[in-house]
Amino acid sequence: MASARRPTPESLREAAWALRDGKLVVFPTETVYGLGANAMEPLAVQKIFLAKGRPRDNPLIVHVANIDQARRLASSWPAEADLLAQKFWPGPLTLVVPSAGDVPSEVTAGLDSVAIRIPSHPVALALLRESGVPIAAPSANKAGRPSPTRVGDAMADLGDKVAVYLDAGPCEVGVESTVVSLMDKRPAILRPGGIPAQDIEAVVGKLGKAGKGPARSPGMQYRHYAPEARLHVVPASKVKPTRALLQEQGLSVAAIVSEELGLTGSDVRIPGSRDDGDAWARSLFSTLRDLDKAGFQAIVVEAIPETGRGAAVMERLRKAAER
Ligand code: TXA
Ligand code: MG
Repeated sequence: MASARRPTPESLREAAWALRDGKLVVFPTETVYGLGANAMEPLAVQKIFLAKGRPRDNPLIVHVANIDQARRLASSWPAEADLLAQKFWPGPLTLVVPSAGDVPSEVTAGLDSVAIRIPSHPVALALLRESGVPIAAPSANKAGRPSPTRVGDAMADLGDKVAVYLDAGPCEVGVESTVVSLMDKRPAILRPGGIPAQDIEAVVGKLGKAGKGPARSPGMQYRHYAPEARLHVVPASKVKPTRALLQEQGLSVAAIVSEELGLTGSDVRIPGSRDDGDAWARSLFSTLRDLDKAGFQAIVVEAIPETGRGAAVMERLRKAAER
């Protein structure tokens, strides 16, 4: 069984070597742990899809160390890309831009675009610099499961399929990057995430609507983020009655609620105030995994306002509740 390594000059060198050797490396980013491979090596990239059980038509984000490296992956670099990169990179923002010809079709799933980001986590940046290659990396979970915000969650899903696990403790943001497409007239958000929509609009003006269909937003059609337990996302006023109803059916029920609701007990998790989207984002995926491990059959979650990172939290919860 693979073991997790703390980031040291030595473990980083080994991880970088593994990447250049076409192997898979799990590494921390500020959002979630990533499952990385050399983005320019088709055989290495294929291993990501096999390890995750990910559909081949769902393209990957390429992580780079600096803007020059990002621009080399793009066939053109829109003015909005410059504005957004200057404001939010390194950080939890992914830009979808026209793809350069030498980006493998395994990475782009055959689209004419490529998704790129510069992560802000110092270990991710150190690995990018040490390896010298762009790193294709989805979240390091089995397809459909909650994303890993702790290295142990990635190890539970991927085990021996990975050459090196780098462990830098829990991720700061906790939800994935915001994906912004620059492929149409106006920038459009394909996936809400760590950077709120309001902050992006403040830089590029009013956002467009994401083009419909798998060609523009391929990942959104798949089931995502789901724990084993059945998830019920309800307004604050419905938390207690919903919980009571499920308990009457004989189910063991956990609740994830704001501190304002005033619930207590070993079956209750409280990320923070309902207005603290950052706190909810940080603990969301690890809480879902922990409640699964504790054996709960159903989880009632209080819906929170969709402002700041609350929008990304609610999008994940709605997806996770789909059956
Ligand atoms: O925070 C993150 O973004 C994390 C960390 C590891 O960086 N990565 C991540 O990757 O969440 P993944 O594969 O779980 O999600 C990537 C999303 C998917 O919804 C995918 O469809 C979309 O980005 N995507 C990738 N390339 C695209 C492209 N060329 N056009 C449109 N969407 C794209
Ligand atoms: Mg993912």
